[in-house]
Amino acid sequence: MIFQCSKMQRVTISQALTSACRDIDRIDARLLLQYVLDAAQAHLLTHPDQILTAQQLEEFRRLVERRIDGVPVAYLTGERAFYDLILSVNEAVLIPRPETELLVELALQLIPLDRPCRVLDLGTGSGAIAITIAKHRPQSHVTAVDVSPAAMAVCQSNAQNLQIHNLQLIEGSWFDELSGERFDLIVSNPPYVAGNDPHLQQGDLRFEPQVALAAGDDGLSCINHIIHKAPDHLEKGGWLLFEHGYNQASACRRLLQDRDFSNICSHPDLAGIMRVSGGQLNFVE
Ligand SMILES: C[S@@+](CC[C@H](N)C(=O)[O-])C[C@H]1O[C@@H](n2cnc3c(N)ncnc32)[C@H](O)[C@@H]1O
Repeated sequence: MIFQCSKMQRVTISQALTSACRDIDRIDARLLLQYVLDAAQAHLLTHPDQILTAQQLEEFRRLVERRIDGVPVAYLTGERAFYDLILSVNEAVLIPRPETELLVELALQLIPLDRPCRVLDLGTGSGAIAITIAKHRPQSHVTAVDVSPAAMAVCQSNAQNLQIHNLQLIEGSWFDELSGERFDLIVSNPPYVAGNDPHLQQGDLRFEPQVALAAGDDGLSCINHIIHKAPDHLEKGGWLLFEHGYNQASACRRLLQDRDFSNICSHPDLAGIMRVSGGQLNFVE
């Protein structure tokens, strides 16, 4: 990086950003500087001539270097915006993605505001889906499951910080700890990348937990398992909704048909790509 840190050096916000943008994306640079200064974007725009302290400059330089090494910004700042929440994240959890907000939107449409509803989120990670649903449907009771104890700790801490009280966390594999339990809605953003997909070794994915991403040879092993077991845990007329890969929609619909789901549907993201599929159990008109 062009700026070196010394007590004598006077570097402004504008100079620090310009310098960092030679090596990393502009938005990443802005988010990292906001984090170091504990300031909103508006502050950076309105105070371009503010001089960084030596400590701030050193911290910013260190973060930019880690970003150059590939570490995702969310892991560097420890947080990520999702839906209308700011969630804490660390290397134990998948960084919540904007496309998962589609799943949340669709789930909220199925959950009544004015009466209780039992919702299950499988593979909750940071709690992005479960916590957002619990917050927006305070009458619902949300159960969140994950196999990773470290992910459970992140979810627990997010729920506490956001004062979510209608959420129960269960550590375990998919439905294993839910014997005899039934839900009105099951949602999931399970791992769905094929184990040999070269993308797992590229970009931000390199830093995210493999257990959150990879799912067998074809990427469908977790989805297959969830579809197969879901009928044992859904109320009559209950819904299963889950996120999947950009090219998995028709395979997912076939798996839902094989398990006798009704009203099977896939939903497009903003780019028009089918990214969420689901169906209803034993629906009788
Ligand atoms: C793609 S991430 C989704 C995280 C979060 N729901 C989100 O949308 O940001 C998948 C999650 O499934 C969890 N997982 C993987 N295998 C699992 C299993 N057998 N049982 C329960 N959770 C599992 C991972 O630990 C990870 O947190």
